[in-house]
Amino acid sequence: MQLNNGEYSFPGGISALSLCEKYGCPLYVYDYDTIKRQFERLTGAFDVKSLKINYACKALSNINILKLFKQMGSGLDTVSIQEVRLGLMAGFSPNDIIYTPNCVSIDEISAAVKLGVRINIDNISILEQFGQLHPEYPICIRINPHIMAGGNSKISVGHIDSKFGISFHQMPHVLRLVETMGIRVEGLHMHTGSEILDTEVFLIGADILFKQARELPDLDYLDFGSGFKVSYKNDGIETDIEDLGKQISKRFNFFCKEYGRDLTLMFEPGKYLVSESGYFFSKVNVVKQTTSTVFAGIDSGLNHLVRPMMYDAYHSIINVSKTEGRKRIYTVVGYICETDTFGINRQMYEIAEGDVLCIKNAGAYCFSMASNYNSRYRPPEVLIYEGKDYLIRKRETMEDLLHSQVEMETLQTALPTGESDFTGLANGVKEGSTVSSKQMS
Ligand SMILES: Cc1ncc(COP(=O)(O)O)c(C=O)c1O
Repeated sequence: MQLNNGEYSFPGGISALSLCEKYGCPLYVYDYDTIKRQFERLTGAFDVKSLKINYACKALSNINILKLFKQMGSGLDTVSIQEVRLGLMAGFSPNDIIYTPNCVSIDEISAAVKLGVRINIDNISILEQFGQLHPEYPICIRINPHIMAGGNSKISVGHIDSKFGISFHQMPHVLRLVETMGIRVEGLHMHTGSEILDTEVFLIGADILFKQARELPDLDYLDFGSGFKVSYKNDGIETDIEDLGKQISKRFNFFCKEYGRDLTLMFEPGKYLVSESGYFFSKVNVVKQTTSTVFAGIDSGLNHLVRPMMYDAYHSIINVSKTEGRKRIYTVVGYICETDTFGINRQMYEIAEGDVLCIKNAGAYCFSMASNYNSRYRPPEVLIYEGKDYLIRKRETMEDLLHSQVEMETLQTALPTGESDFTGLANGVKEGSTVSSKQMS
């Protein structure tokens, strides 16, 4: 999204405020050009015979986004049987889907086997059960390299206290099991965390993976997971992908030579590919001056974008309705009935009630983590693709909130007069707020 002549707009000259008027706020908008640019930048950074990027679809799983990744030549990284099914529905071949679950039942893993996708195992108990049920099915093993890395403790997953992966110290046990049960290990995987800035951290992990890989003679691929840091503050502080690509390629090519075969180098990024493409627009309901702060209260909350409250994540916030004039300091908060803060002490052009704010880097782990908390509707999603805007998810309605609830017959009278069932109740409620052209001016 660019600022031109006092107006924020997307490729094709689509004005941000006109999207807010057309679809209403709150609203998620994704720019396909940015996704494509990130995908191409990543694939261009490596110099190896065979590279496979598996988009970690937990970041943003709208089926249209998945189809676009398929179109770009990406594979898919999935963590639930539902993500596997979404991937297949989006047209990915089972071979192009890797399923990396954690603490799921063996039944769910068996369901993924039936669908024919690649299976990544991160627990010795599951490995034993898997070997008994599916001895012919090749697997990938997720190791825990005991590296403390990542933007915060909730997204650091490769350290010794983490529930993820099989400790590399337990590899002798893994080797005994696969040998005894005759299981073929086709891949070796690790993922140490998200938002890792330093190339060195990836290289330390890579050396551990190479060392373990030497013990496995039938490998087809090494999967280095993800964790590339993006610049949430728009300050350019991000993983140096070109440097990382150079260093990893050099080591990977050396490893393949030593191993005697060219393997596929795999990565499974989410954030790097979609974070920057996403924008979350929300209207200011109230400006509230207290004795210490000026709050801008928006028509959204942690139910729509939980990262600031969940991870203390920083997201840039701008006033899209005002692009010049006086600036003031605001704390941007949501409407959820508990502390619900998007950003503290943010300098923005002076906010009036009705202005539209934009929260940036809203492509990854934003809509996909949204909920109906406080019985709010989840917002619509719009994709900007080849200069046009496409609605790719409708705003929810009262019907959506109620559709899986089952009304107890004996409680029917408890509903408001005139409403004999939940459908009737749902139909009587208005949808979310639009931005009027007056608010836009
Ligand atoms: C196993 C695995 N792979 C890949 C990812 C994607 O990480 P990121 O979004 O930081 O690229 C995650 C994130 O949670 C993950 O758990």
